[in-house]
Amino acid sequence: MKYNSLDRAAESHKVIIMIVLLFGFISFSLNLYTSLPVKNYSLNRESVDGKLVWQKYNCNACHQIYGLGGYLGPDLTNVYSKRDTSFITAYLKNGTTTMPDFNLSSNEIYSLLAYFKSTDNSGSSDPRTFIILQNGTIK
Ligand code: HEC
Repeated sequence: MKYNSLDRAAESHKVIIMIVLLFGFISFSLNLYTSLPVKNYSLNRESVDGKLVWQKYNCNACHQIYGLGGYLGPDLTNVYSKRDTSFITAYLKNGTTTMPDFNLSSNEIYSLLAYFKSTDNSGSSDPRTFIILQNGTIK
């Protein structure tokens, strides 16, 4: 097959466009992955215990953590900063008409509070409060 000069010009334009697109894609990806905020936190003994209490009583059936779980009760990811610890303790000790009373021991309540503190430090749950950044990530 023979190419004339017009075909060759069209081919080289395509190559240039591909290079520009590839360069754009790579630099955007690099920028995105190097600028993502990564929170460093570690679970301490108490919060691990609290997570086990959370699982033992299946609190997840009605509540969400990081947006995942049942929807009868509210998301509790940030309950630690939204509410007083005495408010949370009162809920856990007594329940309400819609939230059962699990007869939790004070140790279990203490561990649950530590767990709520760690989820509060490591994530946020209400998408309505998120700010969408220019590169498509959220804050
Ligand atoms: C049967 C469903 C159900 C289960 C299981 C359940 N909850 Fe709840 N919880 C609710 C409902 C519904 C509310 C909201 C009740 C209200 O406002 O009267 C609530 C409220 C709460 C609140 C107060 C939140 C706020 O900001 O007002 C906390 C804290 C809480 N639950 C913790 C727990 C923990 C910890 C467990 C597991 C031990 C648990 N819940 C298990 C239904 C449940």
